Amino acid sequence: MRMVDIIEKKRDGLTLTQEEIKFWIEGVTNNTIPEYQTSALLMAIVLKGMNVEETTVLTEAMLHSGDIIDLTAIAGKKVDKHSTGGVGDKTTIILSPLVAAAGAKVAKMSGRGLGHTGGTLDKLEAIPGYNISLTSDAFIKQVNDINVAVVGQTGNLVYADKVLYSLRDVTGTVNALPLIASSIMSKKLAGGADCILLDVKYGEGAFMKTVEDARKLAETMIQIGQNLGREVNAMLTNMNQPLGNAIGNALEVREAVETLKNNGPKDLEELCLVAAGYMLFQAQFVDSPEKGYDMALETLRSGKAYEVFLSWIAAQGGDISVFEDLDTFTHATYSKEVIANKEGYLHDLKAMELGLVSMHLGAGRQTKEDTIDYKAGIMLSQEVGNKIEVGDVLATLYSDQEILESHVQDAVACFEINNDTIEKPELIAAIL
Ligand code: URA
Repeated sequence: MRMVDIIEKKRDGLTLTQEEIKFWIEGVTNNTIPEYQTSALLMAIVLKGMNVEETTVLTEAMLHSGDIIDLTAIAGKKVDKHSTGGVGDKTTIILSPLVAAAGAKVAKMSGRGLGHTGGTLDKLEAIPGYNISLTSDAFIKQVNDINVAVVGQTGNLVYADKVLYSLRDVTGTVNALPLIASSIMSKKLAGGADCILLDVKYGEGAFMKTVEDARKLAETMIQIGQNLGREVNAMLTNMNQPLGNAIGNALEVREAVETLKNNGPKDLEELCLVAAGYMLFQAQFVDSPEKGYDMALETLRSGKAYEVFLSWIAAQGGDISVFEDLDTFTHATYSKEVIANKEGYLHDLKAMELGLVSMHLGAGRQTKEDTIDYKAGIMLSQEVGNKIEVGDVLATLYSDQEILESHVQDAVACFEINNDTIEKPELIAAIL
């Protein structure tokens, strides 16, 4: 088999066989196919697409390119959730103890942030002492003992994705449905959970700009999961504005803690309860997602979810005394309010741009090597639909480096205000 024939076949819009896709991914994994040929095939896939069967084969080939986590030593069904990425998305930190408190097993691997999106691992590392790398035995024991552990990905999970993603990043081939679906699903399947809930974001701050595109991506990933024997559901959720009010690592942990103490923003709480309800249904703790919602609500209102959160953080070495004084936990050296200079209704809160402002304040990485200022970020004071007067506070910026006027100007530009009234947008468009 020759790689050039495979590239030409996809270039001409033909369907690749199982053998051809496996040949490619095995060659990527053992370094026998040069990067220029892989890049050419990636671009052909961007332009000509792949059907669901090809995408399933690609996912399976990628899944076998590295370690596969064996969670069979954990009793009961293991649940996992994956968000396709956004701004202010701290749901894992809330959802994991929420479902764990109801009895489900959460053995989760999370990733770091890059560019405008944050990553759960960075958020957890804002808690002093939190250890993201447990041995496999310690990981399994913790989940058996307290139902939840969240760690970083092992170095060799889905090796082919690391190679492909770094090429996609520099060849304009990130944004293609089969490549996104296989990249996400191969990692989720390698993570070993029985049930997976996908939170597919749509909107300005997401990969998929429209709900229709998000639905196509979700349907493809559900189909891949089913073809490979896992229970997969997907929520389509709005990322036209950040989720909750906090953007930035310590600020987001604080908002997660407040939500677990029944004091968080309502949109964030609702998303977590709906997702938890689905996960409990998938794991067969209840016979409908609605009953799962009620069960999750009970663990939240009773304080049981917060107790599980504290046990989880402490079990991984985190200093839970920092949650006794949240002001000190999030206190950055500098802060600056962003003030409205026109009146009207808030139509748009540009999630991606806000994520970039937050990154420039120090909360995120422009390159993988950058270090993070955990206390940097943005607290939003307004949401889409609000009536705004001149002089109202729109947001507050936080950083340990002096906050430049240009960051304030960039932040003001993220708030689109005009005279027409506007309904508050729905947060969850559909659950598939
Ligand atoms: N997230 C991933 O893990 N992979 C993609 O390709 C896109 C988003």
